[in-house]
Amino acid sequence: MKILDLNGISYDYTTKAGKVHALKEATASFETGVVYAIVGRSGSGKSTLMSLMAGLDVPRDGDVRYRGESLLSMDRDRYRREHVGMIFQSYYLLPQLTAVENVELSLELANYRGNKRARAEEMLTLVGIRREQFRKRSTQFSGGEQQRIAVARAIAADPELILADEPTGNLDNENSMNIVEILTELAHRYGKCVIIITHAAEVAERADRVLRMDDGYLRAE
Ligand SMILES: Nc1ncnc2c1ncn2[C@@H]1O[C@H](COP(=O)(O)OP(=O)(O)O)[C@@H](O)[C@H]1O
Ligand SMILES: [Mg+2]
Repeated sequence: MKILDLNGISYDYTTKAGKVHALKEATASFETGVVYAIVGRSGSGKSTLMSLMAGLDVPRDGDVRYRGESLLSMDRDRYRREHVGMIFQSYYLLPQLTAVENVELSLELANYRGNKRARAEEMLTLVGIRREQFRKRSTQFSGGEQQRIAVARAIAADPELILADEPTGNLDNENSMNIVEILTELAHRYGKCVIIITHAAEVAERADRVLRMDDGYLRAE
């Protein structure tokens, strides 16, 4: 099922040196149950595209539609909290909190109505964190484990859309493949729409579909 549409979206940054046309009339559709990779060299507009898909900003032209409704007419903070899970290259866990508290916090922000502790523990288990580790501070985990906790946090409120910007950028091959496997399972087994921005050929190879950003232009591979 189609959940996200980009209809000719463009975006500029205004700098002292003038305008940077970071995104040029990008058009694409994304479906549930599918893993997408977005590839392209540094500066081609990938992160800009992701922030517009996440509703962190709005396009200068065109619009992003979630289940047919333009983000322009939605409460975008709410859209992001309830329907989008985000994962970044640097995991951004809160260092003063434990693994389970990091996940619970995102449930609180998303107004999750069920038992937050139980849900957080279930998500940590899903990404392969052992129960004995739930109450360790996030800084005491390895990079691969921290990224798995970040994935648990991203999916805890059960968003349909998962956006990952270079999620394996700081990981070795084994940990990268582990994250890719988890993200693939989320799409294929749990029916999420997973969009991964990546530089890594071995990550893109495992995606169901690949799109390329090239100097602000988006096209299917
Ligand atoms: N905050 C910003 N201010 C000015 N220019 C920016 C900003 N963020 C990104 N850019 C420029 O927009 C273009 C696309 O950047 P970005 O979306 O970060 O690309 P990518 O993620 O593919 O590396 C680049 O030319 C970059 O320099
Ligand atoms: Mg980027």
